[in-house]
Amino acid sequence: MNQFLLHGGDYNPEQWLDMPEILETDIERFLEAKINTVTLGVFSWAKLEPREGDYDFEWLSGIIDRLYENGIGVILATPSGARPHWLAQKYPEVLRVNEMGMRARFGGRHNHCLTSPVYREKVRRINGRLAERFGHHPAVKMWHISNELGGSCHCGLCQEAFRRWLKDRYGTIENLNDRWCTTFWSHTYDSFEQVEAPSRLGESALMGLNLDWRRFVSDQTMDFVEEEIRAIRDAGADQPAAVNMMYRFEGLDYAKLAQKVDMVSWDSYPVWHREKEWDTARDTAFWHDVIRGLKRKPFLLMESCPSSTNWQSVSKLKKPGMLSAASLQSIAHGSEGALYFQMRQSRGASEKFHGAVIDHYGGNDTRTFREVCGVGEELNHLSELAGCATRADAAIIYDWDNIWAMKDSQGPRNKGLHYEECVDKSYRALRRLGLNVDVVDQSASLDRYRFVAAPMQYLFHPGFEERIRSFVEEGGTFVMTYWSDVVDENDRCFLGGRPFGLTDVFGLRAEEIDGLYDGEENTVIPVQALSSGSRQLANMKEQYTCRYLCELVKPLGAQILMEYGRDFYAGEPAVLCNSYGKGLACYICADTEQSFYDDLYENLVREAGIICGWNGKIPEGVEVTSRENEEYVYWFIQNYNRAEVEIEIPEGDVILGDREGILKSFGSLVIRTKKTDGKGEHKNEI
Ligand code: GLA
Ligand code: ZN
Repeated sequence: MNQFLLHGGDYNPEQWLDMPEILETDIERFLEAKINTVTLGVFSWAKLEPREGDYDFEWLSGIIDRLYENGIGVILATPSGARPHWLAQKYPEVLRVNEMGMRARFGGRHNHCLTSPVYREKVRRINGRLAERFGHHPAVKMWHISNELGGSCHCGLCQEAFRRWLKDRYGTIENLNDRWCTTFWSHTYDSFEQVEAPSRLGESALMGLNLDWRRFVSDQTMDFVEEEIRAIRDAGADQPAAVNMMYRFEGLDYAKLAQKVDMVSWDSYPVWHREKEWDTARDTAFWHDVIRGLKRKPFLLMESCPSSTNWQSVSKLKKPGMLSAASLQSIAHGSEGALYFQMRQSRGASEKFHGAVIDHYGGNDTRTFREVCGVGEELNHLSELAGCATRADAAIIYDWDNIWAMKDSQGPRNKGLHYEECVDKSYRALRRLGLNVDVVDQSASLDRYRFVAAPMQYLFHPGFEERIRSFVEEGGTFVMTYWSDVVDENDRCFLGGRPFGLTDVFGLRAEEIDGLYDGEENTVIPVQALSSGSRQLANMKEQYTCRYLCELVKPLGAQILMEYGRDFYAGEPAVLCNSYGKGLACYICADTEQSFYDDLYENLVREAGIICGWNGKIPEGVEVTSRENEEYVYWFIQNYNRAEVEIEIPEGDVILGDREGILKSFGSLVIRTKKTDGKGEHKNEI
């Protein structure tokens, strides 16, 4: 791990080789802005191998040396994100085929057949050469594998690989037929040879097939990544390898992909200044937490925009202060640095108007450049945070298989399940209490948490229910919502009542689910007749609105906290809690509004004895986040309001911002508090 936080980003000097003076000024600018790391080589293949087998690394070597002389490190990319013309011309098999069977022509990027032996071979060779040449260069700190991997190919090679993948998984065609429920509509396969990738021209209604195709695409991409990394390792390079991931990207199982690399990173381009900034901030924070949750380790903000992108529907500039707030937010949530796309704005082609640290004018007196310098200063102040961990008592389950299966199924609401909002509500309710939250998939061990929320976990992986049972048994609080534990890993409905295998833990059985029309509402209200020994929920309102989905359940011993206010199920349970073992299992039956989650979670978190170690009051629009090492907890307090706020400053050293108690709009404060026991525990915990 570095002893400092990274600051810098994507740099494409190959676009400026005929203007050496530009490259010289760039280095001056980098030093002024305290840039310590640049990413080279993303999309440089045509310059690195202009003709097949004819490698030209001289230009790159010169630049890496110059950067090194100036104390700037390099993240070196493998160039497989975009291919040169000669490759597609000579080997058309590297071009993807779509689900209609049409092969793409040359163009674009991120669009290669990842099964193609030729593509793999060409990538392996150039990676090996790069690693031989630069693998021991002291400037090279990390490998950036390809770029924003995603998408699928339906060519013959991929179809063949898919069939092999299925054979490995299911062994016999009878087993596959059983798992995919192919008797339905007489779609039974006679042999693996009949299986084709899903297509609108052909089979698209077998959910088991669709789900396995997505898994295959994900596995095939991971296999490609592994092969890329192997080529580098075989050539003797041992720097960590990272992939850059994308916001809310569902195309690959990131939880699995993360296991193939040393470090995960992502590219963050929030749409600032459209909604309230703190809504955007919470949304961005959620994805920071997803990415950190993949390895439960620090990650890297690989790309972010210093001003405005050129691909969003409106290119909104970041208002003064927002760049700092967004960069520090990533650090607060576990990033080891703040990197940009990109260092110098390209002169032509599709990204010429994308924001950059150095723009077409090239001077150091632009507003953006000055703000970048400001971030450089701030990261410098915070260098002791490098390598700090995030400790979270609360977790939210977010699982790719679940998302794939749930969104693909027909019903209970084809107009939108509002899944993302459902997850966000749990996340926001926890974050407003100042709690760090890990976002993890179903395979993560739950032992380290005390509060876990599982919003809309429609698909259950084998064994997940057992882990929930023992988590609750051991004293954890587990909250699950409607439309959970409905199907197995092949999207086959569980028989015999749901939540499958957990009806005793939750003390209920889910029976029916009502889809509500857009605009239709119901309410959930506290139960009228509190029985003796009933759980008293403080601060709950008289009623909360719910929309979209209302599940009807039969209580089997759970305590009913809230009931429906309207419709034929008025008076029936809407929120239930069941004591099980030493813990508590709660079930939310309906898509309730945010304030319901806020109030309920405040109660449950208090009952569970979880407190945020930050004792101050958290004003609306302020984010409190922490990282820690053996000795200290570092508190980040960030104001996402458009006006300044007053905050109570706790004991501790202010290492960034001032002690005045007034936090300006988009301002950040970082406070270091010493742990009293020195054993890696939160000093204020419980
Ligand atoms: C992505 C890509 C970059 C660039 C940026 C622009 O994140 O990885 O190459 O295109 O978008 O925002
Ligand atoms: Zn293919």
